[in-house]
Amino acid sequence: MSYETEYRRSINEQEQFWQDRADDIKWFKPPTKILSKDENGVDRWFADGELNTAYLALDYHVEKGEGDRLALIYDSPVTDSKRTYTYEELTDAVAQFSGALASLGVSKSDTVLIYMPMVPEAVIAMLACARLGAIHSVVFGGFSADELQVRIDDAKPKVLVTASCGIEVENIIPYKPIVDKAIQSAGHETEHCIVYQRPQCLASMVEGRDKDWLELFVNANPVPCATVNALDPLYILYTSGTTGKPKGIVRDNGGHAVALKYSMKAIYDCNPGDVYWAASDVGWVVGHSYIVYGPLLAGCTTVLFEGKPVRTPDAGAFWRMVDEYKINTLFAAPTAFRAIKKEDPEGQLIKQYDLASLKHLYVAGERLDPPTYEWMEQKLNKPVIDHWWQTETGWAIVANMRGLDNLPTKAGSSSLPVTGFDVRIFDHNGDEKPSGEPGEIVVKLPLPPSCFPTIWNDFPRFEEAYLKTFPGYFLSGDGGYKDEDGYVFIMGRTDDVINVAGHRFSTGEMEEIIGSHQAIAECAVIGIQDDLRGQVPVAFALLKNDANVSDEQLQKEVVELVRGKIGAVAYLRQVAIVARLPKTRSGKILRKTMRLIADGETYSIPSTIEDPASLEEVTTVMKQNKIGVYA
Ligand code: COA
Ligand code: AMP
Repeated sequence: MSYETEYRRSINEQEQFWQDRADDIKWFKPPTKILSKDENGVDRWFADGELNTAYLALDYHVEKGEGDRLALIYDSPVTDSKRTYTYEELTDAVAQFSGALASLGVSKSDTVLIYMPMVPEAVIAMLACARLGAIHSVVFGGFSADELQVRIDDAKPKVLVTASCGIEVENIIPYKPIVDKAIQSAGHETEHCIVYQRPQCLASMVEGRDKDWLELFVNANPVPCATVNALDPLYILYTSGTTGKPKGIVRDNGGHAVALKYSMKAIYDCNPGDVYWAASDVGWVVGHSYIVYGPLLAGCTTVLFEGKPVRTPDAGAFWRMVDEYKINTLFAAPTAFRAIKKEDPEGQLIKQYDLASLKHLYVAGERLDPPTYEWMEQKLNKPVIDHWWQTETGWAIVANMRGLDNLPTKAGSSSLPVTGFDVRIFDHNGDEKPSGEPGEIVVKLPLPPSCFPTIWNDFPRFEEAYLKTFPGYFLSGDGGYKDEDGYVFIMGRTDDVINVAGHRFSTGEMEEIIGSHQAIAECAVIGIQDDLRGQVPVAFALLKNDANVSDEQLQKEVVELVRGKIGAVAYLRQVAIVARLPKTRSGKILRKTMRLIADGETYSIPSTIEDPASLEEVTTVMKQNKIGVYA
C-alpha cells in the first residue's frame, strides 16, 4: 500500500485503521472499543482490551518457536565486555527479576524507579515491571541527585532499582551516593533499593532497605505475566517543560504496543530477525521505544551500546558495531554524527568496515543540519532519514515511512506526517498558515495510539500546556513550516526548551537554579547554536547591588551549581555578567532577540523594547565573553 493511501485512511477512517493495526498484536482480550473518551474527556485507544506488553515483547516470540533468536546484544567498550541474550534467555531473566520485584511487594500499578547505566539489567528491570503490570519510571543516569529526588517525590516508587556505577569513557561515576542523597532528601519514602553491583565500583548498602540484585535474583521465583488493561500505564517518563518541575509523561500499554509494533515495519521497514540499533540511552524516550519495546515487539534483535560515538575507542565505533553485528537499521542523534565527522572528516574509518548490512540511517532528537546530512549521505552512501518526534508521542510524528513507500527525502525536512498524525501549521490565532510560512506545529485531535493521555498526577497541567492554546489540537511546542509538497520542516522549539546533544532541557529550570545563587538578582538563559551539540545553554546574570564576588568566581560557581542541580549533560559552560537585561516595557526579557544576536542572525528591534541601547550592551557583553558567533 502506498504512503498516500495509507495516510489518508488513517485520517479519514481512524477507527478502522487502528482496529486493523490492533489485530497485529496478541491480546489476552481483544478490544471492542477502539476509540473512546476517558473521564477527563481525552481520546483513548482500545479501552477494554487486555494484554501484557512484556508478554508481547518476549514470551510471545518464544511460544512461536523463536526462542533461539537473539533478542539483545550488549556491547560495552567501556568495560571491554559483550553479552547476548536469546528471546528465551531474556524471557527467563525478566520472569525471574519480576519475581525479585514481587518478593519486595511490587505488584500491578505500583511504581518502580530505575536509575541505571546502559547495562542489560536496565532493560530487564523495565520489562520485569511491565510483566508485573507495575509502572516503571526510568531516570537518565546523567541526572543529579536533585533531579532524581524530584522524580522520586512525583512518581512515589515502592522500589528503586540502580547500579553501583555508570562509566563515562574512562570515568567511573558512582551512582549510589547520588541515589542515597536523593532518597534521603525526598519526602516520599522509598521502601527498597535494589543495587546491581558492578566490579568497577562497589556500592555500600543501607541495611534493611538495600538489596543486592544478584542475591535477590538468584533466590526469586519466576512469575507469570499479569493481565493489564490497555489504558493502564506502562511507564512514566519525565521530560523538561518550561519550569523546574519536569513533566511525567504517561504511556499506556495498549496503544503503545500497537503503535510501536506497527512503526517498526511502516517507518523503519524492519522485519522479524532484523538487527536494529538505536544508539541512545534507556533514560530517554528513544531508548524506551527503540532500544527496548519497538524492536522486541517486532521480533527483532536490539542492541545496547555502552559507549560513545567517539573515544570508545575512536570515531569508527559505530561502523565497527554495524559490521560486527550485521546491523540493518541504525538510529542516532545528529550530534553523534557531528562528533564522528569532526574526528574523521574524510570518513577514513568508515572504509575499514563492511557496512553492507545497513539499509537505513535514522536521526531524531534535534535538528539535522544540512551539512551533516550531506556528509552522512556522501560518506555512507545510504539513505539518511530524519524524523521528528517527542517524549509526548513516543514515536515519530513526521517521517519518511520507508516500510510503505520510497518517497524522496529533502535536506532540512523530516518528510511527511506519519499515519494517524494530522499535522497543521497555525498562526497565533489558530488559522492555518499557507505553505512555506512558518508557524506553530499542531496536531489535530485525536492523537494516534501511544501518545500520552495526561501528565502523571497533573491533568490540569496537561490541559494547560498542550490543549488550551488551540482547542481541538495538540500544541507541539515546536515551530516549523510545510512546503508545497506537504514536507514538514522543523525549525525548533517555540518555548523555553532546548536540545543539547539531543537531550532535552528547560532553560526556565536553569534560570530558577541560577537565580537561587545568593549574588544573582536576575538572569536569562538562552540556547545558542553549537557546532557539535546543536545547542548549548548560555547564562546572562545580573548581580545584586551588594554582591561581593569576582566575575570569575561567580561564573565558576554558577557552572558548578547547574552541574550539581541538573547534571553535567546540561552543558552550561558560559556565564556572562550583565549590567541589565534587555526587556520589553512590560518587563519581559527579550530572550529570542538575544538568541538571534548570539547566533549572528538578522533581528529587528522589537517595538515593545524598553530601551534599544540594552541590546547594544548585551551584544558588547557577548563579544567580551566570546559567546556564539563572537567566539
Ligand atoms: N552519566 C553520567 N554523566 C554523564 C552521562 C551519564 N549517562 N552522560 C553524559 N554525562 C556527562 C559526561 O561525562 C560529561 O561530563 P564532563 O563535563 O564531566 O566531562 C558531560 O555529561 C557531557 O557529556 P556528553 O554530552 O556526552 O559529552 P561528551 O563530550 O562526552 O560526548 C558526544 C559528546 C556528542 C559524543 C555525546 O554527547 C553523544 O554521544 N551525544 C549523542 C547523545 C544521544 O544519543 N542523544 C540522543 C538521545 S535520543
Ligand atoms: P524529546 O522529547 O527529548 O524526544 O525531545 C523532543 C524535541 O526534540 C522536539 O520537541 C524537538 O524540538 C526536538 N526534535 C526531535 N526530533 C527532531 C527532528 N527530527 N528535527 C528537529 N528537532 C527535533
